[in-house]
Amino acid sequence: MTNEKYYIIDFDSTFTQVEALDVLAEIALQDDDQKESKIREIEDITNEGMDGKLTLKESIERRLDLLDAHRKHLPMLVDALKEKVSASFRRNRDFFEKHSDKIYIISNGFKDFIVPIVREYHVQPENVYANSFVFDQGGRITGYDENSLLASNNGKVEQLRQLQLEGDVYVIGDGYTDYEIKAAGLANKFYAFTENVERSTVTEKADHVAPSLDEFLYMNKLNTAISYPKNRISVLLLENVHQDAVDLMKEEGYNVSVYPAGLDEDELCEKIKDVSILGIRSKTNVTRKVLENANRLIAVGAFCIGTNQIDLDGCLEKGVAVFNAPFSNTRSVVEMAISEIISLMRKLYERSSAMHETRWDKSARGSYEIRGKKLGIIGYGNIGAQLSVLAESMGMKVFYYDVEEKLALGNATKCESLQELLEISDAITLHVDGRPENKNMIGAAEFEKMKDGVVFLNLSRGHVVDIDALVTYLENGKIAGAGVDVFPEEPKKNSDPFESPLCGIPNVILTPHIGGSTVEAQENIASFVPGKIMDYINTGSTSNSVNFPNLVLPAFRNAHRLIHIHRNMPGILAKINQVLAEHDINIVGQYLKTNEIIGYVITDIDKEYDPDVIKALRKIEHTIKFRILY
Ligand code: NAI
Repeated sequence: MTNEKYYIIDFDSTFTQVEALDVLAEIALQDDDQKESKIREIEDITNEGMDGKLTLKESIERRLDLLDAHRKHLPMLVDALKEKVSASFRRNRDFFEKHSDKIYIISNGFKDFIVPIVREYHVQPENVYANSFVFDQGGRITGYDENSLLASNNGKVEQLRQLQLEGDVYVIGDGYTDYEIKAAGLANKFYAFTENVERSTVTEKADHVAPSLDEFLYMNKLNTAISYPKNRISVLLLENVHQDAVDLMKEEGYNVSVYPAGLDEDELCEKIKDVSILGIRSKTNVTRKVLENANRLIAVGAFCIGTNQIDLDGCLEKGVAVFNAPFSNTRSVVEMAISEIISLMRKLYERSSAMHETRWDKSARGSYEIRGKKLGIIGYGNIGAQLSVLAESMGMKVFYYDVEEKLALGNATKCESLQELLEISDAITLHVDGRPENKNMIGAAEFEKMKDGVVFLNLSRGHVVDIDALVTYLENGKIAGAGVDVFPEEPKKNSDPFESPLCGIPNVILTPHIGGSTVEAQENIASFVPGKIMDYINTGSTSNSVNFPNLVLPAFRNAHRLIHIHRNMPGILAKINQVLAEHDINIVGQYLKTNEIIGYVITDIDKEYDPDVIKALRKIEHTIKFRILY
């Protein structure tokens, strides 16, 4: 009796996401007039073969006939297939390297393209059992080696019989022929691989369904006993989160569900039960009641800037990290501010409106260049600072005021007081945050201090400007023009009416809170938030988390990383280290950061641990969450 374990892996639609002959068709038929119809026919034949309606021989012969492929197409095919290796195979290269002599590729495809692909994953060419193309003298593919076992029905079974593997045999594949190996008594277990294709005829027969290779490795304890397969991480993305985000999460191997609308509290309480990662935008409230139902939740991604809709402290108490996209739309707001400063100084909006009312008013009166004008930026954060750089490059003299100490970029000049800024600026733009103290921070007293003919912008928060005072100073001509994107009260839906005392005043550009609304900003958000969440899941890094203590971690190699989240109480770090010392475990790195509510400790250890350590660490009083990376 031997304990050797062998892994039999299918190629098409398992090792790679696609059927190689379909891809070869795309390449070989590139210049063919009937390309589309031939490709469709080839795909149909592939499917008929899979469903058992054609013999393997018929399926291969008919497809090769239609393909009209040549030796010169093969390098292109190999390049294309390299890009199409299944995501979970790509991220588990270590498995292939470690078990290379025990891994066999048994496929009804062709060695000509399989070997170059799998060799990069340390699979030995002599462990690849597949068909071979036959070429004519000119290099045209005319057929295949018909003597190969794998060109006949039941070929996989016969091939495995001949291999006479002594030990446990595990088969991973997406097709019925893979299952047949098990049915013939030649394998201990058959895993239906469904990452790329799912066929009920196959999954019904399988011992297990493996939505990814991670699942297979996890079930067979081939990574570590504790590592967690990514397909078991359920992601729920609400409110039509951008498709790029959905794709990134799927590519990572998560089990992703999407829902177009927001959910109310009761619906979310129900849906969140098995969810590990929740993605929302502004309409879904993550309340304490929701969190009480969220026992598997690891992270919340706010695919927007604001996080008022999330109970951040409640999340902390549950050990749930929250991430948002704080500067994904910064540039969009800045570009809009620049365009409005120019438009207002040139009275473009007023002139355009007159034209729409058939009035021609050609005059230079009241129109100015922005070059050499003084721009006063209130709030020198992400947006204010970026605006500073762009405005300066267009020749404006930049002044800024911030309640915090901020580095002046380029030639910008810091003002010691708000008053100083108000008094000297030709254009004033607000980019402060929404803290409550900022309510009505710009009112009559502030407008009074401004220069006559100033241009004024608010693209930050609605409540920071006293709108009635703004109307007064626009009407008395002190303010020459204003751009307002945010309002104390904003309609909830596009169909709700908008009302404001600003409506109808000339040279006032009113926009419906669209400063950050661009396609680019949406795309940035869609990649930024998943990036932060995956980093947190994969490394424990909390950089840019809204609620967690921010810990940027070095990469860990040849170590296990223990991630411990606890209530911030004295002495917990000592207790963690005591447990490790008692189990004779050497710490190679340790990082701790706390805030008022939680402590976040990362410990890298350098040896195999026994499960008792984990139990002991979980038992430490005030532990909120504990997980291990390897
Ligand atoms: P940020 O947080 O990076 O910068 C805000 C800055 O304002 C900080 O430096 C802060 O110290 C300063 N500040 C706060 N109160 C102040 C005060 N009373 N006086 C002077 N400085 C003060 O924020 P970011 O990303 O630059 O955004 C700025 C504002 O723009 C935020 O209110 C944000 O909600 C809003 N925003 C609006 C968008 C739109 O669609 N119109 C899109 C994106 C952001």
